[in-house]
Amino acid sequence: MNNAIPAAIEQVLLDERTIARRVSELAAQISADYAGLDDLVLIGVLKGAFIFLADLARQLTVPHHVDFIALSSYNKGTASSGAVRLIMDTRSSVTGRNVLIVEDILDTGYTLDYLLRIFRARNPASLRTCVLLSKPARRRVEVQVDYLGFEIPDVWVVGYGLDYADLFRTLPYIGALRKEVYTRG
Ligand code: PRP
Repeated sequence: MNNAIPAAIEQVLLDERTIARRVSELAAQISADYAGLDDLVLIGVLKGAFIFLADLARQLTVPHHVDFIALSSYNKGTASSGAVRLIMDTRSSVTGRNVLIVEDILDTGYTLDYLLRIFRARNPASLRTCVLLSKPARRRVEVQVDYLGFEIPDVWVVGYGLDYADLFRTLPYIGALRKEVYTRG
């Protein structure tokens, strides 16, 4: 296997060990907070959250279900209108259940804001959010984050589920993409 860092990556922001340590801490905190509560359902937001959710869920010590939702935002990376489109809904109903939304990154906040609004309308027993990365400099709408992994600067990050043009999602670390890569063309 080739473990070389791709040329498109300027630097590693969060290495594998740093991510693993923080994910363990989040899992411990969530396990403590949901101890004794019935029917916890983790909702992973596709595609970006698939690796974070897999690592987090496997370290929870409380019983839980796993479901997914897929969204797409219009005009990503540009002066975003904030319009979010639902591509695939969860398979199970969340009504009366303890819902934890699991997201890879909070950028403008439009996606999580949309998710909180649609799930709130479905009357869950509780509704919280767990986000691995937050870019506070990019925020356009304030949203509630209950569990946060890391705050990061306003750079394009890839790896650990995050992509550029659907590439780099399976890098084991989170790296900053070279500016030339996403500004050309
Ligand atoms: C990313 C990320 C969040 C959203 C955050 O998804 O996974 O869902 O953007 O951005 P926001 O706070 O500005 O709304 P993306 O649309 O890139 O899709 P993907 O997860 O399939 O890569």
